[in-house]
Amino acid sequence: MSDPADEAALLGLHAHLAAMAFPDRPMTKAQIPTVPFAALPALPEATKRALEAAALESNDRYLETFLEPNSFCPFSRGGRTRGQTLRLVYYADTTDFAPFLQRIVEAASDPSKVVIQVIMPLIEVTPEAWSRFCHEATAAGNELLRAGAGEGKDVFAIAPLHPELAYSTVNHFALIPLLRRTPDPTIQWVRLDALEALYEGRTGDTEYVDLANLAAYLTQPKRSPLFERIAETNLKMAQRLGIPEVERTLRELSRSAQERYARILLSDTPEAPMPAPAAGRAHRSAPVSDASPPRPALREDAGRWALVALADLADRTPTRFLAADVELAVIRVDGEVHVLHGRCPHRNAPFSDAVIEGDRLVCPHHGWDFQLATGRSEGVPGAGVARFAASIEDGVVWVEGAELRAWRKTHVPIFHADDDVL
Ligand code: FES
Repeated sequence: MSDPADEAALLGLHAHLAAMAFPDRPMTKAQIPTVPFAALPALPEATKRALEAAALESNDRYLETFLEPNSFCPFSRGGRTRGQTLRLVYYADTTDFAPFLQRIVEAASDPSKVVIQVIMPLIEVTPEAWSRFCHEATAAGNELLRAGAGEGKDVFAIAPLHPELAYSTVNHFALIPLLRRTPDPTIQWVRLDALEALYEGRTGDTEYVDLANLAAYLTQPKRSPLFERIAETNLKMAQRLGIPEVERTLRELSRSAQERYARILLSDTPEAPMPAPAAGRAHRSAPVSDASPPRPALREDAGRWALVALADLADRTPTRFLAADVELAVIRVDGEVHVLHGRCPHRNAPFSDAVIEGDRLVCPHHGWDFQLATGRSEGVPGAGVARFAASIEDGVVWVEGAELRAWRKTHVPIFHADDDVL
């Protein structure tokens, strides 16, 4: 096939099929699948524990810096906090298939777990072989469970996750594999009864309609199903972030995971990794209350916002302001001023009580750090907070309303001030 459009369409179709959550072919008697990777070397228990902790932490970063803040999976955060997600790490020092079957049977025995992930650090497997194996392993597991229950229905749907899944931007379904580029190859099982209830039972999602537009709303075509809407929204969000930037972020998360594993394997006395960057800081774990709401800006003038007199800003002390409906954290450092978005991208904590350490702002809740000059985090690859241009005129700090409005248009608040964000 030589036409690039046809090739793109074919790639999109492959990506779509790889992303399908539901079984796409009738189940025949499942074969015992061949494990498509070599067994990992035997290791001391302490090293395996350290690798498992590092793999979980890498997965946390994927969820907390990428998937959840950008709302790519609207159910991820809630599922985790409600205890419906089970994550296991499997150091595969055997190619015996029995451990997989054992895990799927164990997962099925606890109906409170809706999403089950088996994270497999360090295995070497192509995305194609991994996807094939995940489907075959799930078919074998479902067959075993059906036989055990004497019922004809499958228990689990499968979504293979892998750091190099092929994707395309030809349509919103074809993009899904990009968002499933987890740091390590991972099997994700989703309980089919929960998935069906979710996709079929949520057609009544709340919608807010301007009364003036009611007639037009009632005559417009019915909204697409939830799955389709999520995929459409994901494509738009990925395009806003920039597809190359999304790829870069995910590649970086996977690379930093592999580096940590290498360090653990080279270490004589492996220890479980620290749970957060900025080691040594005492991080709070209490819920955030928005006790000090942002201060109003001084005034708006010809599309610009005057925030505060420079003399009224304490040095190296973030102060929050509200301008054009955007919360801002303004930080004065030696006569220079930095303006960042006023909330932490990790869990939306207000930056009122963040601290300035050198040239970084550090959120006190879990220690995420952000460069004042760029908004980028050094400690958490891929994380960053918006930074806005500011000027000082006649001793007053100004920001551009157009920049704030453009930012607001592309950033839907996921949390609200009174959410239990931590
Ligand atoms: S680091 Fe967790 S809310 Fe800021």
